[in-house]
Amino acid sequence: MSYKRQTVDIEQIRRQEEICLQIFDRVTADGKHPLAMVDTYGCQQNEADSEKLRGYLQKMGFGFTQDEFQADVVVVNTCAVREHAEMRVLGNVGALNHTKKNNPNQIIAVCGCMVQQEHMAEKIKKSYPVVDLVFGPHELWHFPELLQKVMTGKKRVFATEKNDGAVAEGIPLQRDGSIKAWLSIMYGCNNFCTYCVVPYVRGRERSRLPENIVAEARQLVEAGYKDITLLGQNVNSYGKDLENGTDFADLLRMINDIPGDFLIRFMTSHPKDATEKLFRTMAECEKCAHQLHLPVQAGNDRILKVMNRVYNSEKYIQQVELARSYMPDLVLTTDIIVGFPGETDEEFEDTIRLCEKVRYDAMFTFIYSPRVGTPAASMPDPYTREQKQVHFDRLTETANRISAEKHKEYEGKTFRVLVDGETGRDEYNLSSRTNGGRLVHLKGSTELIGKFVNVKITGSNTWALYGEVENG
Ligand code: 5AD
Ligand code: SF4
Repeated sequence: MSYKRQTVDIEQIRRQEEICLQIFDRVTADGKHPLAMVDTYGCQQNEADSEKLRGYLQKMGFGFTQDEFQADVVVVNTCAVREHAEMRVLGNVGALNHTKKNNPNQIIAVCGCMVQQEHMAEKIKKSYPVVDLVFGPHELWHFPELLQKVMTGKKRVFATEKNDGAVAEGIPLQRDGSIKAWLSIMYGCNNFCTYCVVPYVRGRERSRLPENIVAEARQLVEAGYKDITLLGQNVNSYGKDLENGTDFADLLRMINDIPGDFLIRFMTSHPKDATEKLFRTMAECEKCAHQLHLPVQAGNDRILKVMNRVYNSEKYIQQVELARSYMPDLVLTTDIIVGFPGETDEEFEDTIRLCEKVRYDAMFTFIYSPRVGTPAASMPDPYTREQKQVHFDRLTETANRISAEKHKEYEGKTFRVLVDGETGRDEYNLSSRTNGGRLVHLKGSTELIGKFVNVKITGSNTWALYGEVENG
């Protein structure tokens, strides 16, 4: 593929920071304390993008609120992966009519994957006059400039041109927590699975330079973060667009070499690009969690082929066996789509068979949702929603049973967990995660939050483990 990786010049980011200061003067004039609300839908990549939006907003002088009636600026960061998320966004954006009536100076921005689709940008232009600013994922780096245009021009701004996307370094971040952090290592997707809108809205795969990623990881560790999740639509193809030959396994090793007691996780992995080198590296790097999210999507070879997944069920199972041979304690999760156009009862049974064979720790299951402009959306789809729901319910039951059985195997054993917060309940007041990412509820002092402790597992169900801290 002859594609040249584009970058945003650091000078352009500096200019955005200058604009932030200009907005600061404007919105804090008369000693005001303006508030912003950032509402996020969709995946972790979107969560990470919202941290950048908040980073910019903070530089502009905004505090943050969860109450849209209090907010002077509302930013809705949207997802396009399924219709359900889009309907929720449109419902909530429609409801902002009330808040704007209350505060006519309120600025409403809608950004992210959903509005990168032409028909959605049009829909908002025509039917949602309450929205002042619309911008796609590629335009996030110059959000301050776009917002300033709205503030000074008093007219609506739309920035959603088709674009391959670029890599922008140096955008300020306001992170959500102090224990766990997202770290984007690459953007975009080149795979064009036939059901998926992501390659159309997030552009081509482009990797951040390893030195920038390692520097950010080092800062996180120095700031006390204990759990770092590397993000990309397909982290296994990290580095393919770089000239220095670094691949994802090399990157893991570089981050593992940073001194400190912390865990490295990552998502998502495409099975076609997972390598033995990656599994070996995961096993050898002591800070790398033995956790793999490896979406299979379907268990039937014809369906996998029309999905353009580029592997078959046999190849997938070989990958799982190889990964488990390096890491017998690997926690394995997956995504599955039920009701892909034309999927028959018999083909669905192959998905059940694959799940029974692989025995995932957890499965994320979805009913196929047609996406405008994707090849699958124009494939014949003779089965009804009700038929698909029957399959979906069966798959969920299978997933829940297997998760419960796998969790039961933890009982009576001791695991090192990272305590990450409070549950708000009396009996098990703390939440924590195992190395493999399984949720463990505990009883203990809040002083344990942010620490690794050994826990004996005393109970379990489909969703969580329950345990007691050992040695006090
Ligand atoms: N319909 C249903 N699920 C989808 N996913 C992606 N596109 C669709 C779609 N059109 C699921 C896939 C992917 C996860 C993030 O969302 O399983 O791995
Ligand atoms: Fe994330 Fe995909 Fe949704 Fe965009 S469309 S927010 S990349 S899940």
